[in-house]
Amino acid sequence: MSVSAEKFKNVMARVATMVTVVTATGEGGPTGLTVSAFTSVSADPAIVLVCIDKATASVDAMLDAPGYTVNFLPEGTSDEAMLFATHDADKFGNSSWRHASTPDAGPVLESAFAYLECMTIKRAEVGDHWVIYGEVAALGLGDDGVAPLIWHDRGFAKLAE
Ligand SMILES: Cc1cc2nc3c(=O)[nH]c(=O)nc-3n(C[C@H](O)[C@H](O)[C@H](O)COP(=O)(O)O)c2cc1C
Repeated sequence: MSVSAEKFKNVMARVATMVTVVTATGEGGPTGLTVSAFTSVSADPAIVLVCIDKATASVDAMLDAPGYTVNFLPEGTSDEAMLFATHDADKFGNSSWRHASTPDAGPVLESAFAYLECMTIKRAEVGDHWVIYGEVAALGLGDDGVAPLIWHDRGFAKLAE
């Protein structure tokens, strides 16, 4: 017996998550969207997963791409998070980014305090999302002490001091 989607979403709204922007480089150019459904899966080898809603415009490009980049957003970048959560926005025209060092990964956002360039190793259709597993091919980490942007209770939040 399954629970109602609304009640499930109410529970998940209370679970604080990181805010990432997942990007890929497809035949049509760069694509990307804001994603909180990110998880580290394995450390050796380094493997992560992201969950992409089938209803997004980005899902086909994310599935077709050979890899992707997970950009971890710092506190103070909620505008950029909302830019990448807005369909039809000029996402890459209105953000600063560079090409990944891994040719098959996605753009690296200049604002990211850390990023993981991944090669897709598995795609799983689960419910109303696609789960895309990636093996980390390269990564970057900025200065210590940068606070992450948090999503909690359907809004942006800060870590307590
Ligand atoms: C904080 C936040 C977290 C989100 N997390 C996810 C997620 O984990 N997976 C997903 O598919 N969409 C997520 N979204 C929604 C997408 O970012 C949104 O549907 C976006 O418009 C998709 O871009 P597109 O329509 O250009 O494909 C999230 C949005 C926000 C604001």
